[in-house]
Amino acid sequence: LTPKDLAGKHVLVTAGPTREELDPVRFISNYSSGKMGYAIARAASRRGARVTLVTGPTCLDAPWGVETIHVTSAREMRDAVLERYASTSIVIKAAAVADYRPARRAPDKVKKSDQPETIELVRNPDILAELGANKGGQLLVGFAAETESLLENAGKKLNEKNLDLVVANDVGQVGAGFNVDTNIARLLYRDGRVEELPLMGKDALADVILDRVRDVKSKK
Ligand code: PMT
Repeated sequence: LTPKDLAGKHVLVTAGPTREELDPVRFISNYSSGKMGYAIARAASRRGARVTLVTGPTCLDAPWGVETIHVTSAREMRDAVLERYASTSIVIKAAAVADYRPARRAPDKVKKSDQPETIELVRNPDILAELGANKGGQLLVGFAAETESLLENAGKKLNEKNLDLVVANDVGQVGAGFNVDTNIARLLYRDGRVEELPLMGKDALADVILDRVRDVKSKK
């Protein structure tokens, strides 16, 4: 029997990529499948939490019993998350949010020409940093997807975004990160501890993350 150890908690999870449109038929995005975030949403719901999933475009079915909000761009994800932030107790940001978007979206399909084209990019809002700066009683969990200096970069995110926990994945490793069913994570805590986890299925990792979240939350 699953323990309902998250009963009474409102957990907000983000998942998937964002898409930043160039014109009606083209966009900038990344390889996130949504599997990690959906696994966390399913596990939290099974463990008794009220769960809201804010998801970018994926091929996955909305988890049963989870309020699922579909968004496309980083700015839409930001609005959907901020609107619900005050009512949440735990926020877990597994989404791979595009850091940049095209400065302009052409209203019609851009025609090819023989000249080289350049795309001007502007920064997207950093949703997690905004959540960290406006934290009430929430417990805030970020992910860090890195291909180099994993612990150093993840540690910076923990501090600079005012997080309680960071799930760091070296997305250059086989079996970790984007668009696979498994992950290899290190968990970074505020007291400086680092917990190394072995290769495991994303469903199993989701439960480990929620175990640690529950423990950190009970000490807060
Ligand atoms: O979806 P899958 O295929 O299962 O792949 C899982 C995953 C690799 C996407 C996931 O495990 C993961 O690492 N998610 C975070 C990806 C990411 O964008 O990492 P980052 O290091 O660029 O961002 C750090 C954190 O800030 C993340 O929690 C991200 O959601 C958040 N962020 C980033 C940029 C931005 N503009 N706003 C944000 O909120």
